[in-house]
Amino acid sequence: MSVKRAKLSCDGPEFSEIAFGTWRILDETPRPGPADVAKRLEKCLELGITTIDTAEIYGGYEVEAAVGAGLTESSDFTDAFEIVTKAGIDVPSDEKKSARLPHYNASSENLVACVEKSLKLLGVDALDLFLVHRPDWFTPAEETAKGLENLLSSGKIKHAGVSNYTRDQFELLSSCMDSPLVTNQVEINLLNMDALYDGTLTLCEQLGIRPMAWSVLGGGGLFGDSEQAVRIRNAFDEMRDRYDGAGDDALATAWVMAHPSRPLSITGSNKLERIESQVAAAHIEMDRQDWYTLWSAAKGCPIP
Ligand SMILES: NC(=O)c1ccc[n+]([C@@H]2O[C@H](COP(=O)([O-])OP(=O)(O)OC[C@H]3O[C@@H](n4cnc5c(N)ncnc54)[C@H](OP(=O)(O)O)[C@@H]3O)[C@@H](O)[C@H]2O)c1
Repeated sequence: MSVKRAKLSCDGPEFSEIAFGTWRILDETPRPGPADVAKRLEKCLELGITTIDTAEIYGGYEVEAAVGAGLTESSDFTDAFEIVTKAGIDVPSDEKKSARLPHYNASSENLVACVEKSLKLLGVDALDLFLVHRPDWFTPAEETAKGLENLLSSGKIKHAGVSNYTRDQFELLSSCMDSPLVTNQVEINLLNMDALYDGTLTLCEQLGIRPMAWSVLGGGGLFGDSEQAVRIRNAFDEMRDRYDGAGDDALATAWVMAHPSRPLSITGSNKLERIESQVAAAHIEMDRQDWYTLWSAAKGCPIP
């Protein structure tokens, strides 16, 4: 079984429906080296996961370099992956010496400088997709748009998008751009359904833009001891037989991917077997009543 592919929008890139998330790749002890990262990349390719999601800030600004080093480990990786990265979060660190406190910076100058650095660290000539990581309330949308258009016209990025934008923020930035924004990368999971209610996914559906979902397993929270997580896992147990014994992680991901905006899912596990079990999610067609069973288990009540 291989992961299916999807276009993010009519003008957007084609990605694997499950992307490999790199936020936590350096979190393990001992710290993974290039060969360890390469093993995960190899597993991804074997499964048809060709899209890598990263960001400037991940791992204390060190993950992009680790991904770049992993990509040089095998000639099989050359041109095999689509690379998504993000920028616009500055946290006091050796990397961001002028930052006195954590803040957002989606100014044109910062976005361009960050992309130029990402290209070097990741070892690619162009990014398949670049996202503004968080809305920056201090920067006018016109200014952010100028940076994105500059990056597109120079060929440093092939497509532009945003992450964690509200519906209004997405519409405003879009209205300032000549080129389309091709996705909004947002948190969607059974423990946090905000994007279903606040118009974020509705707008994506309306515009024919597929969102990219982060933390589809609630960052691991679905496997914790909270009453909500236990209720959800009990509901998985009751429906599992209808989905060829799919694991909790695959069912949780399938619940997210079943939304009519058709989110792509970014897997966050460092374990090869867990990355593999995510693949099933892209093939599950969740039944309407099972979807609502999980909604009810998450909310702890029937539909209103
Ligand atoms: N745009 C944004 O603002 C934003 C924010 C956050 C994340 N992201 C992206 O989304 C990706 C995924 O986010 P995420 O890491 O929060 O995703 P996630 O898949 O919800 O959570 C991954 C975590 O769950 C754990 N986990 C998975 N299966 C488990 C199981 N069966 N039992 C116990 N724990 C389990 C993993 O541990 P193991 O490694 O041990 O399996 C890992 O720590 C990130 O890598 C990043 O690329 C984007």
